[in-house]
Amino acid sequence: MSKIKLAILASGSGSNAEAIMKWAATSDLAEVVCVGCNKKAAMVISRAEIFNIPKFTVLKRKKETRESFDERMTKSLSEYKPDWIILAGYMRLLTEDFLKHFKYQVINIHPSLLPMFPGLDGYGDAFKAGVLESGCTVHYVDAGLDSGEIIDQCKFPLIPGESFEDFKRRGLAIENKFYPEVLEKFFKGFV
Ligand code: GAR
Repeated sequence: MSKIKLAILASGSGSNAEAIMKWAATSDLAEVVCVGCNKKAAMVISRAEIFNIPKFTVLKRKKETRESFDERMTKSLSEYKPDWIILAGYMRLLTEDFLKHFKYQVINIHPSLLPMFPGLDGYGDAFKAGVLESGCTVHYVDAGLDSGEIIDQCKFPLIPGESFEDFKRRGLAIENKFYPEVLEKFFKGFV
């Protein structure tokens, strides 16, 4: 049986992208066919190189509309014929045309227990709000802000007295384990 083709999109460090590439490297279910990035010199690019995965960058042009940017991103991604687009710290909202092109087969991880704390700084907003429990959410992507249907969530308590940096580091490490586990279950049809 042929493997499910995953394209990863990321904007930064790419620790989640790396965790997914590591999982896929030994999976008989899925393979990562490319890593796309919207930032120059993002660390995710060197992580893709280590795994020998084709990578490309699409940079926003001055005054470019979201529609035009996503059209160029769609073109670059389409060369690899992905079945699913996996967002891993990709910090842009996607247009309806992009989602339609990929048949709404787009998944993201967000650093909060959605619908709480959508947006750019899930951990920061949860920490500032003084919550006792936080977590991360794997969800379908729609054209809204972290508003797509939830696939699975992982909760973890805040440790009393923990600094924000430690909380975020712990959260990211949990994401790195959780995201590939959810994808494995998702593509097997278990979640
Ligand atoms: C992760 O915490 C991810 O959940 C978050 O960005 C970080 C990327 O880290 N994504 C969002 O906030 C999306 N709204 P990484 O580059 O090391 O994977």
